Amino acid sequence: MLIPNDHPSHALSESSYLRACKRQSVEHVPVWFQRQAGRSLPEYRNIRGSGSILEAIADPSLAAEITLQPVRRYGVDAAILFSDIVVPVNAIGFKVDVVPGVGPTVDEPFRDRSDLQRLRILEPEVDTPYVLDTVRILVKELEIPLIGFAGAPFTIASYLIEGQPSRTHARTKSLMQSEPTIWHDLMERLSDIAIASMRSQVLAGASAVQLFDSWAGALSATDYKKYVFPHSQRVFSELENLEVPRAHFGVGTAELLSSMSDAGADVVGADWRVPLDEVRRRVGPDTAVQGNLDPAVCLAAWPVVQRQAREVLRAADGQPGHIFNLGHGVLPETDPEILERLVELVHTEGLHPKPLTP
Ligand code: CP3
Repeated sequence: MLIPNDHPSHALSESSYLRACKRQSVEHVPVWFQRQAGRSLPEYRNIRGSGSILEAIADPSLAAEITLQPVRRYGVDAAILFSDIVVPVNAIGFKVDVVPGVGPTVDEPFRDRSDLQRLRILEPEVDTPYVLDTVRILVKELEIPLIGFAGAPFTIASYLIEGQPSRTHARTKSLMQSEPTIWHDLMERLSDIAIASMRSQVLAGASAVQLFDSWAGALSATDYKKYVFPHSQRVFSELENLEVPRAHFGVGTAELLSSMSDAGADVVGADWRVPLDEVRRRVGPDTAVQGNLDPAVCLAAWPVVQRQAREVLRAADGQPGHIFNLGHGVLPETDPEILERLVELVHTEGLHPKPLTP
């Protein structure tokens, strides 16, 4: 399926973010921040109030405003939709709360085969119309691309099985190893949900998509290949005909980077553990890289942030196909002024192919 000519992505063909995703030359390295909309912004805390984040997401004018706040303040090269990876599963009735300071929690976690019936097909226009309304408001307002997203089947499965954020993902791994048939059925349903959700966001006007497999790094490369890769690969292949860049991100994925690239992503996001020159070697020449400043560094004084950001640019080496980002989300304690200065630094020093002063 081709995107129609009046689709916003056509007007954005000169976007540095979209060009970098396609490994085309850019005037300056594009930059955006994972979790750029959020608690580090005073204007976010003011407007958000104390209700559940899921309520804020269900209010399109509020969600659109929150998406725009970091765009105005930082001058980033892409906006990311204000939503959450658990929105689709919650919307089809697999009840998930998002507890402030904790993350997604599930009162009745996924336990056995009978729980599969709690995961029906997502009908985005019916189940999450507010998400699509938010996208439609945003594409009218924005002059930069909007990134849509979904949680990857493994990361969503982990929340549904553990019932809460988990360090070990022990129940998830146990189900995966001991009940492979249930596991693959579960992953198939979650893949269908991710595909339907991202497809609907693109048809509503999003210019790119990112699949967040935040916790895939908990797996060995062998288990990733066997239990996760085929599903994430199907997600990417079913989005191919939309002809928008598809990014793939996880934390602690050093040993998975080549598989995450092979899954069909146009862009692979990496955390801070592997320098970008090595990330490039692992993802191969046909994939763009995104990252990878340690978000904790942004809590330090500016000269430290400056030094580390220059190090990221040095490792990226002015080669086409680099999108500057943090290695994970903005930490809530981050001073917004640091991120403002970071965008300016990337735009002035991340030139292609300008040599950097140390
Ligand atoms: O700015 C953006 O990146 C866009 C919005 C966005 C949110 N969540 C808003 C949010 C995006 C892209 C996400 C994705 C998401 N949600 C991921 C993948 C990215 C990653 O961080 O790895 C994950 C794992 C989740 C699950 C989740 N939701 C967590 C772990 C938390 C944090 C809990 C906390 O309070 O510390 C949430 C809640 C959440 N989602 C917040 C925001 C801004 C903070 C809570 C709030 O403001 O109420």
